[in-house]
Amino acid sequence: MKGIILAGGSGTRLHPITLAVSKQLLPVGDKPMVYYPLSVLMLAGIRDILLISTPMDLPHFRRLLGDGAHLGLRIDYAEQAEPNGLAEAFVIGADHVGDDSVTLVLGDNIFHGPAFSEVLARNTRDVRGCVLFGYPVHDPERYGVGEKDAHGNLVSIEEKPARPRSNIAITGLYIYDNAVVDIAKNLRPSARGELEITDINQRYLEHGRAKLVDLGRGFAWLDTGTPESLLLAGQYVQTLENRQGVRIACVEEVALRMGFITAHECYALGERLANSNYGQYIMTIAKELAAV
Ligand code: DAU
Repeated sequence: MKGIILAGGSGTRLHPITLAVSKQLLPVGDKPMVYYPLSVLMLAGIRDILLISTPMDLPHFRRLLGDGAHLGLRIDYAEQAEPNGLAEAFVIGADHVGDDSVTLVLGDNIFHGPAFSEVLARNTRDVRGCVLFGYPVHDPERYGVGEKDAHGNLVSIEEKPARPRSNIAITGLYIYDNAVVDIAKNLRPSARGELEITDINQRYLEHGRAKLVDLGRGFAWLDTGTPESLLLAGQYVQTLENRQGVRIACVEEVALRMGFITAHECYALGERLANSNYGQYIMTIAKELAAV
């Protein structure tokens, strides 16, 4: 299984904040936004990752994450010259995917909830078709929307419908078998000129090969698209972290817990950031887990 993080676009709803800085590098709580989707891929056990962003922003991601080796990962980078749509990720990433299955996560999507690692592990094993993740929202018309029949089967997928058939938004986490590359290569741009991920998903649905996993209301899928929602996401993370004393999407901790790096290596990563509480946290966690 390969991973792709799509972290391009122009973040116009966050202007002027995103005039000079990529949206996906803005802070959510005490860490850059991209750490959250990166930790999702890591929790799924995915170590071979392609990060796609704009020509302007790519060097900054590279500076932040390097080749990923310090996290026990391999991270490659590719440019998306223009925001031509989410589905273009599979055209740009065709060589990266190769003969494998692939998980795509949008660089601005934040997921947090109980047993998420198990949900990911279950759905990334032996992938046939596509797996989408649904989440109930009060404003489904802003998203891709999935509709299920009485038996729980997915029956329709629509992109930002004026009259949604359900309140289930399709989140920015998508798992596909290898057919996705050919489907993406043969897509035509939509009326708004983009290669739409929803068109890929509809193709899978037509062949009875699309599944919608319900993340449910006990789960958090947070929006970061506007200054208000970005601030709320940061407050959510901070509230939980302060209360529980554990961090969400601390990629060094995830790497350690997943067995990608040793406690010794993790501690050294913390030491490099020792002036911040984040760095101190990594050192504490590394010591705790080394002692177990
Ligand atoms: O967040 C989930 C939603 O993401 C889904 O429910 C929708 O079905 C899906 O179309 C998408 O909707 P958005 O309205 O959020 O798409 P947006 O164009 O805002 O792009 C999402 C992120 O991907 C955003 O951070 C920018 C980035 N992006 C977008 C495009 C079109 C790219 O990196 N490249 C692109 O070409």
